[in-house]
Amino acid sequence: MIFTFVSCGNNDVVGFKKIVRVSHGQPKGHPDDLGMLAFKKHIEENLPDKYEVLVYSNGLLGDSKNTLELCQTGAIDFVIASASNLEAFNKAYSIFSVPYLFDNERAYHEFMDSSVVNEKIYDTTIDQGIRVMGWFDAGTRNFYGSKPFKTVEDVKGLKIRVQPSPTNVAMMDAFGSGAVPMGFSEVYTALQNGTIDAAENNELALNTVKHGEVSKFYSYNKHQMVPDFIVVNYDFITSLPEEDRKVFDRAIEIAQEVEKVEWVKAVEEAKRVSTEEMGVQFVEADVQSFKKKVLPLHEKIFNKTETLKQIYDAINKINEKNADNKGEK
Ligand code: GCU
Repeated sequence: MIFTFVSCGNNDVVGFKKIVRVSHGQPKGHPDDLGMLAFKKHIEENLPDKYEVLVYSNGLLGDSKNTLELCQTGAIDFVIASASNLEAFNKAYSIFSVPYLFDNERAYHEFMDSSVVNEKIYDTTIDQGIRVMGWFDAGTRNFYGSKPFKTVEDVKGLKIRVQPSPTNVAMMDAFGSGAVPMGFSEVYTALQNGTIDAAENNELALNTVKHGEVSKFYSYNKHQMVPDFIVVNYDFITSLPEEDRKVFDRAIEIAQEVEKVEWVKAVEEAKRVSTEEMGVQFVEADVQSFKKKVLPLHEKIFNKTETLKQIYDAINKINEKNADNKGEK
């Protein structure tokens, strides 16, 4: 029997199966990875003769910027990328990097799951060949470095790494710090050799990519909740036969469910490992002192267009509905 290996442009077919490439920048076992492995499992179980899903972790196929470009061309089918990276494709994505936008996690989750995001934001990059299909929790971002940052005065004048995006740079300017935009994979060395004084991220960065080895204080100033997104090549997803599309849509739902359950566990584990094995200290910060400096950015960003104003109103309503003093958790 002769097997033919046919390569049709970007639509790689091995034997009779289409190869679906998924790329993300986190290590194996990270919630994003586990989410996409659940995605793979669902597709391969339901369409075993048609698709093989390859999940590339650790930024093996490139950093977020490069892999998003490869997703535009169809060389990669799915990419997990932070909202900050999508700002380069459409300004609508800048809203997710606006500091202190959500009053608590409940409000953040409700907004992310709302039709506003799906209808007004996810379609905005279709003309560039990519679309967002769903979101992963990436927690709350906080500052960390070799000393505690209890008030905004403590970060004044420091060189702090941010994800490359104009909103992140504006936020750091407002804090009085110097933003140093760089890719995620470069941060460990930059912290180690002093190219930067500090970084900011969720707790998982301390243990999964070992930033806790080179930063002994993690301060809860809680400046952002920036989601990761499941991005797809638009031609790929829209050219699927209807029955296959249903399986892919369900697989995306499952990936999101799994990631969110794993996220909660991973944050606890990150705190435990960083404290017990790396000697990291977790410090409470004066959130208001940070918040005051950046609140004027809200108006600057959301007053730009009518759609942005509507989105801001929707967020504020959700914040009110989920206010902490309403007695829930
Ligand atoms: C988080 C996020 C990643 C992002 C990274 C960063 O880990 O989940 O998508 O790349 O932060 O700060 O670059």
